[in-house]
Amino acid sequence: MSAPVLTVDGPSGSGKGTLSTIVAHHAGWHLLDSGALYRLVALAGRKRGLDQDDVEGHARLAVTMDVRFGVEHEAERVLLGGEDVTDAIRTEEAGQDASRVAAWPPLRAALLERQRAFAEPPGLVADGRDMGTVVFPDAALKIFLTASAEERALRRYNQLKEKGSNASLSALSREIAERDARDSARAVAPLVPARDAEVIDSTGLSIGEVAARVIELGRRRALWR
Ligand code: C5P
Repeated sequence: MSAPVLTVDGPSGSGKGTLSTIVAHHAGWHLLDSGALYRLVALAGRKRGLDQDDVEGHARLAVTMDVRFGVEHEAERVLLGGEDVTDAIRTEEAGQDASRVAAWPPLRAALLERQRAFAEPPGLVADGRDMGTVVFPDAALKIFLTASAEERALRRYNQLKEKGSNASLSALSREIAERDARDSARAVAPLVPARDAEVIDSTGLSIGEVAARVIELGRRRALWR
């Protein structure tokens, strides 16, 4: 492995994305939002008009799709084949699509190289479901972030509302439960903590408190100051 890696895994709405962004910023490390890659494959498949069950076609797209992650006016932008799809991949529907294709072993295998290429000096914060178990098993520090199902649904609800979409809390709770069940039950790379992961339950904690705890864990391992 070419650079130290911090992995942050956990279910939807546990605060992984925000935590990863804060810690990457603190350490001056690169960031991998692996969920975005699964969302992008599903979206690329739709744009190409691929059959919903075309596993090989989607696996090919995982390798060939032209993706760029950038920052514009301090906000993250995601480009697919030059088109800005930042908002299109963030809908709950895109999350469901991602979770469906993410259960296919050939597609997960096709994304491995792409994800590992993000591990460049000075270091990488990798956010996902299987970062510590499959993609970066030798990571220097592994976090598994959880929160109660109620709190995760509420956080997602507030996030979507902030972006101007009028989500329903009960529908979101149902969708999140469904997605978690599928992610946890799948045969390949299911959502489970790595054996050597630090498990943090963020229920009732602010994201600042969680970040402070993780930054301290990294400090103790001399990953950053
Ligand atoms: O994290 P995010 O909600 O963007 O992930 C969308 C979906 O992609 C998840 O529900 C999961 O099915 C899949 N995923 C995965 N492995 C990862 C990251 C995401 O299977 N490392």
